[in-house]
Amino acid sequence: MIETNCSLKALNTFSIDAKTQILFHLREIKQLVELLPLVKKMRNENKPVLILGAGSNILFCDDFSGLVIKVELLGINISTTANDYILRVGAGENWHQFVTYCIDNDMGGLENLALIPGVMGAAPVQNIGAYGSEFKDFCVALEYIDLETGQLHKLSGDECKFAYRDSIFKQKNMCNALITQVTIKLAKKWQAKNRNVVISEPERLNLSAKKIYDSICQIRAQKLPDPAQTGNAGSFFKNPVVDKKVADKLLNENLGMPYYPQCEDKVKLAAGWLIEKAGLKGRQIGGAAVHQQQALVIINKGNATAQDVINLAELVRQSIKDKFNIELQHEVRFIGKLGETNLAKVIENV
Ligand code: FAD
Ligand code: EPU
Repeated sequence: MIETNCSLKALNTFSIDAKTQILFHLREIKQLVELLPLVKKMRNENKPVLILGAGSNILFCDDFSGLVIKVELLGINISTTANDYILRVGAGENWHQFVTYCIDNDMGGLENLALIPGVMGAAPVQNIGAYGSEFKDFCVALEYIDLETGQLHKLSGDECKFAYRDSIFKQKNMCNALITQVTIKLAKKWQAKNRNVVISEPERLNLSAKKIYDSICQIRAQKLPDPAQTGNAGSFFKNPVVDKKVADKLLNENLGMPYYPQCEDKVKLAAGWLIEKAGLKGRQIGGAAVHQQQALVIINKGNATAQDVINLAELVRQSIKDKFNIELQHEVRFIGKLGETNLAKVIENV
């Protein structure tokens, strides 16, 4: 189905009131015969193309002067091997509903990743992660269509080059890759993997995937705003990964600062802690505010414009640079009139 000159407000969890020239709902693979010539036409006219899931990691900075492809390919196919469940899942399946489906059917493993908004096809793009688990721990393969050539490609999990909030799909040369299907492997022999602080000692003795799922849902509901009620896109910035020397200096100056040692003498810092320490919790510009319960989240208090969010994000970035000499990188993808952009570029153009 194709719509023209339509609103994207309901299609991004920030609830930013932007429009797109064309919106294409991709519900079946056979629609590619219609979609591929349309993409070609847009390219010939120098107009941008955006692949969209549930819009929960996107900031529309402006009206979009091109084609948005909303991926709505559904279907879950389950097979088994001696040790594993193998699930082939359509890119438009809702992530949390899929996790819930697995838990309800005694296929544990994904419980730490419960309640993350979005759809399956977006999960590999930034290798979603929470509470000690990452998408890469479960993804064995995926398929994508190259919108330029129309060819179907298959990648193994290793070939996706997953890293913290990163994958091959963030590389510029992969901007034509529309993920259609993902293959997930869940071990039949379930083992708890959790950095989850909310499980009490008696509960720990009788642990199950369902119990962890329930407590993750509970803790997330307390900390993170529900996009159905308050517009947001989750963590606005990534947690910065710095050299151990830099972290040691900050730790000496800030006793009790949370930190997470990584490999190769790197340390991950908690951006939310830095933002709170800089006194920015609750700080508001126009309709955009730093969330009171989780300073890493920027919320739309009801009528925020994209510019409000951009101005607040810049204030946060600059304050953290000034106070800690740490450069925050935004996790949220910035989409401008002509395609992907970033905070530095949109600030420069004001
Ligand atoms: P979109 O926002 O629509 O798109 C994100 C990116 O993926 C875009 O660049 C888009 O072009 C690309 N994309 C989407 N679909 C496809 C496809 N089929 N093929 C190719 N490219 C595609 N993230 C975490 O990692 N951990 C969390 O704990 C977490 N918590 C969150 C909590 C809240 C309240 C919110 C609002 C967000 C949270 N997020 C979290 C961020 C977000 O949910 C994830 O990044 C999610 O995977 C985005 O899915 P989406 O379908 O909304 O993608
Ligand atoms: N903290 C503060 N103040 C705050 C926020 C956090 O002091 O306002 C401290 C916490 O007390 C804790 C530390 O910072 O010591 C880390 O906080 P938290 O456990 O809430 O996680 P986070 O680092 O802020 C990351 C992910 C989340 C993911 C959670 C849980 C990133 C950028 N964010 O947040 O992912 O759900 O861990 O694992 O890595 C997302 O990507 O959108 C997202 C929500």
